[in-house]
Amino acid sequence: MGESLYSLSSIIKTTPNTVPIGKLHGKVLDISGLSATVSGMHGFTGVGDRVTIKALDGRDITAEIVAFRSNYAVVMAYDSLEGIGAGCPVIFPLYKKEEREQLAGATLRINDSWLGRVIDPTGQPMDGKGPVLPGGKPQKLHASPPQAASRARLGPRIDVGVKAMNLFTTCRQGQRLGLFAGSGVGKSTLLGMLARNTACDIAVISLVGERGREVREFIEDDLGAEGLARSVVVVATSDTSALMRREAAYTALSAAEYFRDQGKSVLLLMDSVTRFCQALREIGLSAGEPPATRGFPPSVFATLPRLLERAGPGPMREDGKAGQITALFSVLVEGDDQNEPITDAVRGILDGHIIMEREIADSGRYPAINVLKSLSRSVPGCNSDEENSLIREARAILATWDDVKDLVRLGAYKQGADPKADVAIHIGPVLEELITQRKNEKVSLDDAFAHLRQILRVQDHN
Ligand SMILES: Nc1ncnc2c1ncn2[C@@H]1O[C@H](COP(=O)(O)OP(=O)(O)O)[C@@H](O)[C@H]1O
Ligand SMILES: [Mg+2]
Repeated sequence: MGESLYSLSSIIKTTPNTVPIGKLHGKVLDISGLSATVSGMHGFTGVGDRVTIKALDGRDITAEIVAFRSNYAVVMAYDSLEGIGAGCPVIFPLYKKEEREQLAGATLRINDSWLGRVIDPTGQPMDGKGPVLPGGKPQKLHASPPQAASRARLGPRIDVGVKAMNLFTTCRQGQRLGLFAGSGVGKSTLLGMLARNTACDIAVISLVGERGREVREFIEDDLGAEGLARSVVVVATSDTSALMRREAAYTALSAAEYFRDQGKSVLLLMDSVTRFCQALREIGLSAGEPPATRGFPPSVFATLPRLLERAGPGPMREDGKAGQITALFSVLVEGDDQNEPITDAVRGILDGHIIMEREIADSGRYPAINVLKSLSRSVPGCNSDEENSLIREARAILATWDDVKDLVRLGAYKQGADPKADVAIHIGPVLEELITQRKNEKVSLDDAFAHLRQILRVQDHN
């Protein structure tokens, strides 16, 4: 394959930049389920290449090669395969070898006009506010993470405006956290609060596989006009193809990298990684992979770290500064299944996790974060000694309060039985009140620590 490409490019040396030097013509052989088999593509195409299928009604349908069987390419469409039949022509533009390398994989020209917009994974606006401006450097959608050695260190701690997180999972610029929760526990609301309140330059929000109604509610109610103004929202709803849902994650990461490379502090919010993995599963199974781990083919667990690793500190720039992508990836945990493979994989890759629980939401405490089960690996390094001891003390009180809460409610606890429990019964509810926050309320990191200090100091003097 390499040899034939080489000879082709050496024959036609004078071709101007990035103009195809010819076209490869193939045909759809058969279609089953979500994929089609195509002849005439082997030798010049590889997995990940995009081809065009001419549908019976004359439409051009973009498809991607996901596998080869013998000499036949297996393709999936970005749209539906409806209107495509056996015998439909398939076209792949041929480029010179060296240009092909530059063009390998899909690219988008992301630019500043994406700010404040809702965009689909192919870069088309979805908000009816007119076209986004053309231009900008082509940004690779499936880029590799920066080399570990060239990456800057984590930045200073970042104020996310949410008390429970600022205090108990203090986060640094460039850190990547997982947000684990079932549906309806308050994920979208929390992500909206973070998008509006976090002290960052730009928020990039990727909504993967949500229903159209949920997307609208998120943008209008949770994010709001003020949040949207400094955000790029990339959306693929649940009714789009698996390729589109996968690309919603990649396009968002590329947009985040575009702003990071300007030296900006970017907040990336992805809802949800589970739906991204489900899209990868559909693609992998159609390509003929075995369903290895609870229906997920092995490629999912190879692809996932490469996506998540793209967030984090950027490479050091010439001016000695580096942009940062601070990221929060949501994971759907249905029925409290901690052995669920995606939960397991994501938890292992990221630098911390935030756990939201239905029982807490049911009790009316929002955001429904279980701070005792949540952890940020950059704490205690980013806080002062005094702040760390405040947090240790608060955690200990909350843990004891958790233990005795039920006894107290049943009236089975006798005041004075255990001095630690007495303190917890007194202070525990006050601390729970402290980390409760209305969705339109913003509390700075310093104010949150000041309030915590006040609660614990008063307790010390009693
Ligand atoms: N901070 C909050 N304050 C008050 N109510 C909240 C808060 N967060 C979530 N809720 C309630 O929980 C419901 C579900 O939240 P949502 O963010 O849509 O959950 P998810 O995205 O996890 O499905 C909301 O309709 C709202 O009533
Ligand atoms: Mg939601």
